Amino acid sequence: MKHRTARFLEERINLGPVRDWIRRKAVPEHKYSVWYYFGGLALFLIVVQIITGILLAFYYSPTPSKANESVRFIMEKVRYGWLIRSIHFWGANFLIAVVLVHMFSTYFMKAYRKPREVMWVLGSLILGLLLGFAFTGYLLPWTTLSYFATKIGVNTPRVLPLIGNYLSRIMMGGSDVGAATLQRMFTLHTVVLPLLALTLIILHVLLSQVFGSSVPLSQSNYDKQMRFFPDYLLRDAAVWTVGLAILLTFATVFPASLSAKVNPLQPAPAGTKPMWYFLFMYQSLRMYSRTAAIGSIALGALVWMAVPFLDRKSAKGKKSTFFTLFGLALLIYLVSMTVFADISMKIH
Ligand code: HEM
Repeated sequence: MKHRTARFLEERINLGPVRDWIRRKAVPEHKYSVWYYFGGLALFLIVVQIITGILLAFYYSPTPSKANESVRFIMEKVRYGWLIRSIHFWGANFLIAVVLVHMFSTYFMKAYRKPREVMWVLGSLILGLLLGFAFTGYLLPWTTLSYFATKIGVNTPRVLPLIGNYLSRIMMGGSDVGAATLQRMFTLHTVVLPLLALTLIILHVLLSQVFGSSVPLSQSNYDKQMRFFPDYLLRDAAVWTVGLAILLTFATVFPASLSAKVNPLQPAPAGTKPMWYFLFMYQSLRMYSRTAAIGSIALGALVWMAVPFLDRKSAKGKKSTFFTLFGLALLIYLVSMTVFADISMKIH
């Protein structure tokens, strides 16, 4: 059967170059090769998010009168609906965690250096889109908690000069969070962001095939390579299987919860807090003036994206201690602000 399909294709298109490429593709083996698996794991989790997201969209209704009820229906009536929603919920958390590991590992290996600068910029944009997915998805269950958390989020840009108010109104589709906001978040979450993210991810992964995996400068005298097909791909598949097993364990042992429907007349519930990946922003906003915090985060993100163009030493194959320290400082800042926010919320 396989033979026939191959012959059918062979008679119509020349598969020679593809076969050659598959045979030739190899992955460098050295001390830090294990970090290469995180990009592939992120790719796998994206696929899980797309599949579970499509399944949820069959039942979800983006209107204030039906949103919460439709999610409850998914959790209580649809066969395995609770599992699909819980996988989607935990998958989002895992994906962001895996992408963060992938980003910092490629950073410290200086994989962004010439010729992979564009891969880095695309990666940074993808991370921004992933945070966008998380933000827009949070409102969809239309719970009082998600309502107030979104209210804080969409009002945050207001501190920006000139465009702040406008941006905030665009996000809400009016002057307050309501039906229009829910419709907007849904369209962003299920149409706009997936289209943008898929385009950038395809480009990112295509470039990773064009350039192959980089080798950290410190390992430049590595002497082993592994064939991609089938040796490396099998290992990739093993990592995906372990990832899926952990994801399923979390989804079944700690299913996603669903609190009460929005009641805008109620005061903000005590537990209103952002997801863990937004905590560093939340803490920065609490500690510094809003304008200073948002200004520095926006500037920091731009500098981070431009690192491949600023780090001239790595581009020339030289050690660049300054950028290693810069990455380390950022990592310490993010972790400490997140932990600090978490602890201070538990105390209050
Ligand atoms: C959903 C998000 C992402 C997916 C699916 C993804 C996927 C991948 C894959 C499959 C590879 C090749 C294997 C590897 O080296 O790990 C790769 C490489 C790379 N990625 Fe990503 N990535 C994502 C996000 C990011 C982010 C946020 C950054 C940084 C800002 C980034 C920067 C890079 C770089 C620099 C490489 C080249 C690594 C090397 O050649 O050694 N990626 N990515």
